[in-house]
Amino acid sequence: MCKSIDGSDAAEKGDLIPPKTPKETEKGKKGETDALKFSTEPSLKKIFMMAEPEFLMMVVTLIFIIASEASNLVIPLIVADAYDTIIFAGENETKSALNGEVNKIMGLALTIYFAGTFVGFLRTTIQGIIGERLVARLRCKLYSAILKQEIAFFDEHSTGELVSRLGNDTTLLQTVVSLNIPEVLTGLVKSITAIILMFMLNAKLAGVSLGGVIVIFLLSVPLGKSLGSLSKAYQDELGTAQTHSTEALGAMRTVQSFAAERKEINRFEKKIGNPDHFPKWYPTMMEGDERSTYRVGYFKSLVNSGFFTLIFGGGFGFLYISLWYGFYLVNQGELTIGQLTAFQSYVFNIGFGLGQVGANAAKVFEGLGASGRVFYLVERIPTIPKPASSDDGKKSAQKSLKPATMEGNIEFENVKFSYPSRPDITVLDDFSLSIQKNTTTALVGSSGAGKSTVVALLQRFYDIDSGNIKIDNEKLTDLDLQWVRSKMAYVQQEPQLFGLSVRDNLLYGVDREVSQSELESACEDANAHEFISTWSEGYDTLVGERGVKVSGGQKQRIAIARALLTKCSVLLLDEATSALDAESEHLVQQAIDKAVVGRTVIVIAHRLSTIRAADQIVVMDDHKIVDVGSHDNLLETCKKYQDLINRQNKK
Ligand SMILES: Nc1ncnc2c1ncn2[C@@H]1O[C@H](COP(=O)(O)OP(=O)(O)OP(=O)(O)O)[C@@H](O)[C@H]1O
Ligand SMILES: [Mg+2]
Repeated sequence: MCKSIDGSDAAEKGDLIPPKTPKETEKGKKGETDALKFSTEPSLKKIFMMAEPEFLMMVVTLIFIIASEASNLVIPLIVADAYDTIIFAGENETKSALNGEVNKIMGLALTIYFAGTFVGFLRTTIQGIIGERLVARLRCKLYSAILKQEIAFFDEHSTGELVSRLGNDTTLLQTVVSLNIPEVLTGLVKSITAIILMFMLNAKLAGVSLGGVIVIFLLSVPLGKSLGSLSKAYQDELGTAQTHSTEALGAMRTVQSFAAERKEINRFEKKIGNPDHFPKWYPTMMEGDERSTYRVGYFKSLVNSGFFTLIFGGGFGFLYISLWYGFYLVNQGELTIGQLTAFQSYVFNIGFGLGQVGANAAKVFEGLGASGRVFYLVERIPTIPKPASSDDGKKSAQKSLKPATMEGNIEFENVKFSYPSRPDITVLDDFSLSIQKNTTTALVGSSGAGKSTVVALLQRFYDIDSGNIKIDNEKLTDLDLQWVRSKMAYVQQEPQLFGLSVRDNLLYGVDREVSQSELESACEDANAHEFISTWSEGYDTLVGERGVKVSGGQKQRIAIARALLTKCSVLLLDEATSALDAESEHLVQQAIDKAVVGRTVIVIAHRLSTIRAADQIVVMDDHKIVDVGSHDNLLETCKKYQDLINRQNKK
């Protein structure tokens, strides 16, 4: 038994690895994953420019950072006073007087501490909200940028990849703005203030301690960098795994009908890396030098713990060494015990502050990588309609005509076209065809001849390489794109419904008020009213994701009704070849017969009845028109057509 996959959803139809345009392939270095190819220069500035409305609040948080860190750091100096008050208490000082003095000092310390903590609470709250505002704005911008792209773009980018950009990468950028950058600033403010205070207390001891801190910091830089690149690699591998899983989940029927669950699991596991396949825990390289999240994560954990051991372990080591030297200075009378305790906490603060800078800087680098991928999409100018200032200067002034009505006279003049993803294969070669308004043209021919391509070009999903396509004597490229598409309706071979109610699906292409009676009359014309009204919830029935809850024939009739409701001037039908039994085929045929009246129709026809009824039949083969004529005419003169009809009759 031979099965074919002809589902029309992008995930099912798309190649496993999207084809590359020569231009974009150049950007990708050898060995890079798909996720890395489409990236622009990473930029922190661009992230911040997106947060322009939040600038003022960012300045406020910066002030709050300084205030809360300064208050935290001043406390050790105050507490030092309490130590020294007790240590240096005079013989004749009463206990209650001493307690009173200590109470005053500690009361002040606690007041400052709570004030600082409250300011800290305010700052993290504001930061969090800034992050949420930014990520929501970025997601909206990114989604609208993606939806504006031309169809060729979606031939290159898988659904999973785009979903990952919208989800994972935007979240990474949110964390960078709302957490990592403020943490880097906090760490810097903390460390610099602590260093200044240390020098104010005792320059000698400050010098020794700072020397140690610098050594630790320098050692931690390469570790931090490698942590950053490992985190990025991890994100990339996860992104690829997500691309695979989205593709499989979007095509579960195909996966299960081929019993390909294991194959899909393997494809996913190859990128995730099943830890149970490595009995000694060590993730050896997968076949084909593939990295997996487990392998990258394994080394990430190693470097991560090395990084923090160095910062905290090394930091505490130096703390004790400086303490040792501090005791010596106390003995020498150059420092009080109280000052030494303050000193101790500053060393700790510097260690902690620099650790904070290092760890968060690594995350900022990771976020920078994501910014390159996100801004590549946000800034990408769709090639259709052509940008106002295109490279070839001359064409830069684009007309955008919006005539009052579309008559529906269509002209293809010597059209030459190849898909952008396969520039070397000519799909239409010197294609010329004239279609009069209010007539039906049937396109027939072998599979791969270019029939669907003709329909795609008329909707300007792709721009042609040479020749002209004209509607009512105006060049397609001179007409407003939205206007053209709004005057056309397209019923695909396997129509797409959305996970909404039948009513919402029917009204998908309509932006006017539609009464229930108009809705029902369109459905009656499309032979859809009868079955919809047998459902208990009628027009409010939910059709399930991508319309899985309705049959193929029902889906087609709903799609025809949806097209009729747009009151289109041009109807494009990609007739279903299979999946319908004789009865539903008859019902769909009736629906089509009613739909073609009073408009220009191009139908990619497979059924003899549709072909016969057409005003002109275009026979296509090998990317060219072989013949044009009426049924009787072609039956006499065209060999290809005779073969085609003979095959139909045999069926
Ligand atoms: N998005 C695409 N990117 C690259 N090549 C494509 C794309 N879509 C179609 N092609 C190629 O263009 C050629 C014409 O395809 P088209 O879909 O127009 O054929 P068709 O006549 O509609 O065939 P069928 O009857 O099987 O639907 C085929 O060789 C096909 O492989
Ligand atoms: Mg086709």
